[in-house]
Amino acid sequence: MPAPVATPSVEKETATAQDGFLTITDSRTGKTYTIPITHGNIRAMDLRQIKVHDDDFGMMSYDPAFTNTASCESYITYIDGDKGILEYRGYPIEQLAEDCTYTEVAYLLLHGELPNGAQLEEWNAAITNRTMIHENIKKIFDGFHYDAHPMGMLISSVAALSTFYKEAKNIHDPANRRVQILRLIGKMPTLAAYAYRHSQGLPYVYPDNELSYTENFMNMLWKKTELRYKSSKVLAHALDVLFMLHADHEQNCSTSAMRNVGSSYADPYVTTAAAAAALAGPLHGGANEAVLRMLNEIGSKDRIPAFIKKVKAGEGRLMGFGHRVYKNYDPRARISKRSAEEVFEVTGRNLKIDIAIELERIALEDEYFIKRKLYPNVDFYSGIIYEAMGFQPEMFTVLFAIPRVAGWLSHWEELLNDPAQKIARPRQVFLGPRQRPLVPLSKRG
Ligand code: CMC
Repeated sequence: MPAPVATPSVEKETATAQDGFLTITDSRTGKTYTIPITHGNIRAMDLRQIKVHDDDFGMMSYDPAFTNTASCESYITYIDGDKGILEYRGYPIEQLAEDCTYTEVAYLLLHGELPNGAQLEEWNAAITNRTMIHENIKKIFDGFHYDAHPMGMLISSVAALSTFYKEAKNIHDPANRRVQILRLIGKMPTLAAYAYRHSQGLPYVYPDNELSYTENFMNMLWKKTELRYKSSKVLAHALDVLFMLHADHEQNCSTSAMRNVGSSYADPYVTTAAAAAALAGPLHGGANEAVLRMLNEIGSKDRIPAFIKKVKAGEGRLMGFGHRVYKNYDPRARISKRSAEEVFEVTGRNLKIDIAIELERIALEDEYFIKRKLYPNVDFYSGIIYEAMGFQPEMFTVLFAIPRVAGWLSHWEELLNDPAQKIARPRQVFLGPRQRPLVPLSKRG
């Protein structure tokens, strides 16, 4: 039986560490309440005691889109959006991207510590041994229309894994969870490559255990009649770096979906499919595809001012710009911008980068973007790299989903190991009609 994913060895602060108290006076009743502050925050449930009448429900906090609500305590990823800092388990993303590989980072996210040589070898072997998918899954792909979006195919096939690994529903067994985690990390590139090959009308290519994680993916994507696709080391490394940049990003829309769905104790495959569905939207992981379409629409540098004018007039957004958390340059955008130049040395320059750089320059000098603290995010440059490597825009979000599975699964593990968590079930502020007399159909005008 493989060892369960370890609980991070970093010393956990006690969740009860108290900083002080918040005193609230309710002007409706004149009553004063003293609410404990823990780690700088109050618990929303402490507001419930605030009532006008004894039989009132009690006060809630209203927070559409959860812009100021922490739904969990987490030890995985730290972001300082004002300073543009991103750390996985305390390691700055810049250092990880410089010195590690994607599978090493996946290990870090899931275990809390970087692996030593032997641990990494064992981890890589455990993932590699799980890259094959059941032959019947090919039939699922065959059922898709020739022009099906690869994200739709990926989401469906990830969910379909649930029907092949029925034991995955035993989510309270750590050893069982570990096997499903390894399977998901191992199979994501295979499913993604099958989706791509189906859209191209090409035969599926089986995984090759002799290759690294990214080289195997490239082989499954692009092998033709040769025995093995000869991938460029530079491009395989660039893809690996992009995988590291996308591996986690704390409580974003898709990770929150993972935690929400996971909190109902659904199995990890359907839960991951739900997270991938959340990623598909253009405001989240779908933005990289939207950036490329935007750059195509702009077409040349001289048309940028007119485009910016339209954005400022509220006619569309500058895709790849802005972020809920970053109010500074997204550190991932800086790394991918640098990575683009390395890729172009192999592929030749993707001229869209010149439009993107000029677009960034103009936007960063424009009062509209300055005032709203809108900077390039991770998606601004990644699509240009992917296109230079030979990917169609439809594949970009799939390339985001493959590595993000490590982040989703780390949060899923953390959720299941957190005694404070329960099934996610937000409240609502009900403002609709109540207790209306029903008029029978025959009497409705
Ligand atoms: N272009 C033009 N204006 C923008 C943009 C943009 N990309 N992003 C935000 N704004 C404006 C927005 O119109 C609003 O202006 P006003 O105050 O006058 O109404 C203000 O900035 C605040 O925007 P918001 O929509 O309230 O901000 P948010 O935190 O809800 O949205 C966002 C964050 C990422 C959805 C948004 O910035 C956006 O739509 N960006 C483009 C899509 C994109 O690149 N998404 C990828 C995000 S990074 C990858 C990932 O982790 O998913």
